Amino acid sequence: MSDQTTISFANLSLPEEGVAVVLAEDGPKLTPAAKDLDKTAKGLLSRAATISGFKGKKDSTVDLLAPAGLKFARLLLIGVGKTADYNAEDWLNLGGTVRGLLTGKEGPTAHIVLEMAGKGLTPEDVANFALGAALRGYKFKKYKSAPKKKNGTADNNDKTLKKIVIHTADPRAATKLYRALHAVANGVTLARDLVNEPANVLGPAEFAARTKALTKVGVEVSVLPPRTLRRLGMNALLAVGQGSTRPSHVVVMRWNGAGAKGADPIVFVGKGVTFDTGGISLKPAAGMEDMKGDMAGAACVVGLIHELAERKAKLYAVGIVGLVENMPSGSAQRPGDIVTAMSGLNIEVLNTDAEGRMVLADCLWYAQDRFKPKALINLATLTGAVMVALGKEHAGLFSNNNELAGWLIDAGNATGEKLWRLPLGPKYDKMIDSKVADIKNTGGKWGGSISAAQFLQRFIKEGTPWAHLDIAGTAMSSVDSEINRSWGSGFGVRLLDQLVRDHYERK
Ligand code: BES
Ligand code: MN
Ligand code: ZN
Repeated sequence: MSDQTTISFANLSLPEEGVAVVLAEDGPKLTPAAKDLDKTAKGLLSRAATISGFKGKKDSTVDLLAPAGLKFARLLLIGVGKTADYNAEDWLNLGGTVRGLLTGKEGPTAHIVLEMAGKGLTPEDVANFALGAALRGYKFKKYKSAPKKKNGTADNNDKTLKKIVIHTADPRAATKLYRALHAVANGVTLARDLVNEPANVLGPAEFAARTKALTKVGVEVSVLPPRTLRRLGMNALLAVGQGSTRPSHVVVMRWNGAGAKGADPIVFVGKGVTFDTGGISLKPAAGMEDMKGDMAGAACVVGLIHELAERKAKLYAVGIVGLVENMPSGSAQRPGDIVTAMSGLNIEVLNTDAEGRMVLADCLWYAQDRFKPKALINLATLTGAVMVALGKEHAGLFSNNNELAGWLIDAGNATGEKLWRLPLGPKYDKMIDSKVADIKNTGGKWGGSISAAQFLQRFIKEGTPWAHLDIAGTAMSSVDSEINRSWGSGFGVRLLDQLVRDHYERK
């Protein structure tokens, strides 16, 4: 659910109501606003700071309720360390930290004064701060019933934060920049919502139906039903879904913001396994519930295309998601089956739990066949092995193109959605040679993320710049961060937004 708290910008004069948030750098060096309030309250704030030993260190606070001499219900002084060293991600994270300290209990409005003592703070910093606050405000509460009073009537004693006003030197510039970042926040929210939704509610057809919402922001959405997939020869994707009673779908989302018709698009492909039981190669019971998130790649693609369209990004971008449910049943595919993918390659299915690569094989082929992409990027919760290699800090990056890989790594460092490149190569490729078919869907014991990536690369045409992001460790069952407390993180939306801004958008 998107944060119900609206964020707006205003000049530096703040009305005395609700909660006030002011900052201090190392020292403590109070900002002018903090000093003003301290003066009005006859030194209350500086006295409290001294008593508590507050030095302005990052993440330290002085938190005062009903501060004498001020009409605020709460006055919060937050240490920010040394902001001269802050980069975009630091401002983003600070916004998240501050939002995390606000509850709404002390009033529906919070006023945050973003102003630094010495050197200025750019409107970009302010907008990034706001984005961090918006992302931190996200909570998936669709299935949490509203608290009821004892007599059964709804509790109207609503104590949620309604409004954040960020006071800054140039509110107009911040407002303008935040318009685009608000679209980014909406894209991340959409991705998180999809990942958090349980699989009984969100199967392939339901996921496909949700993508229709993108038409509202000007995206052309076409849903390819099973009969179309059969006609196209997407037998690898269909094989994964054949054990489920819920039919498989592929959705193609086109955003043309480039104007010039006929130019080649950048294409994003997402793995959308709405639930992965493993199929006949059944997964163990412990932790299987997490496999409702096996569509996080697809969720990211949907969130990204929505975001690009909402902020009217100047490029031609296409999103393709392969939506299937991997179930064991009398109609499920078996280990040992051989299926012919859309590309014509025969795949020996040695493990029905290595299903994501089969879904992607057909989607990647379709993407190249239909769109001749100038870059092709896929995202997938593809392997548990990527977490063995990289933990939950970096997503795995594989690419056949050094320039694209470099751009992606840079975008990762700029946004904090970090990538670590892992190798591809002929020796690894041998791991997926099959004795009886063209290729097998597992590559043995070691380097599981690499053999999975090699499998995908067998479906990439010579000359297509391609990158595969293995997001199994970063998109779901996420570790808490300053800007995320949700199980589904929405990983990839901000990363790819940055890539697009830096390299694919017409300026
Ligand atoms: N969806 C899983 C990968 C996964 C595991 C994602 C844990 C998120 C958390 C994928 O379909 C899978 O089952 N991969 C297997 C491949 C193996 C059978 C070759 C794996 O990683 O064990
Ligand atoms: Mn699997
Ligand atoms: Zn899977």
